[in-house]
Amino acid sequence: MEILPSIIAADWTKIYEEIKSVENCNLNYLHLDIMDGHFVDNLTFGMLIVDAIRKITHLKLDSHLMIKNPKKFIEEFYKSSDIVDVHIEIGEEAFECIEFAKKNNLKIGIVINPKTHPKYILPIVEDVEQVIIMTVNPGFAGQEMIKDVLWKVDYLVNFREKSQLNFKITIDGGVNWENINELKKLNVDRVVMGKSFFSLNYEERRIYALKFQKPQ
Ligand code: DX5
Ligand code: ZN
Repeated sequence: MEILPSIIAADWTKIYEEIKSVENCNLNYLHLDIMDGHFVDNLTFGMLIVDAIRKITHLKLDSHLMIKNPKKFIEEFYKSSDIVDVHIEIGEEAFECIEFAKKNNLKIGIVINPKTHPKYILPIVEDVEQVIIMTVNPGFAGQEMIKDVLWKVDYLVNFREKSQLNFKITIDGGVNWENINELKKLNVDRVVMGKSFFSLNYEERRIYALKFQKPQ
């Protein structure tokens, strides 16, 4: 299972060192939460920051677009992102973004909020690299996990097996060093971790991440 540290929970007064600490934990991804203050009630950063982060790390960049009109900016985000994720809740535009990614052979993720039934993404799930199941209502790091949406993991694992697909299943929101073990048992492929990861000091991060990554 992969851990994707969510950088909005990092100490931005020393963001270079924070990103290097993720590299030193033998991890492969950074999760970047892009928020526009309209799709969610928070405002973070855009392509300028993603482009800068691209220049200072080899980590794969997973840009989670919590913005009202992703189609307008998706091409820009792909300049520095390895994966771009869009919310099914934005409607038709989500399908157009998936079409764009497919046409350009780019990796795209589809994101479903806690209130959204996963059946709505089945028509397009063969075209995505990952399905992100939100286990918090999007907008902020440090929230408590909403555990009663975890049934969606089984639902998607079963659908993936039945349809012989290989999209990854990612959990995003409220993951900590206790519930991560429950997620592993559910065969989740990736977990996004914000507060629980960045609230540890550099040595603790390494120990936790390496211990956790060790095949059990
Ligand atoms: C919430 C974001 C999540 C969040 C994760 O809108 O999409 O990625 O930052 O942070 P934690 O792990 O602290 O919930
Ligand atoms: Zn996110």
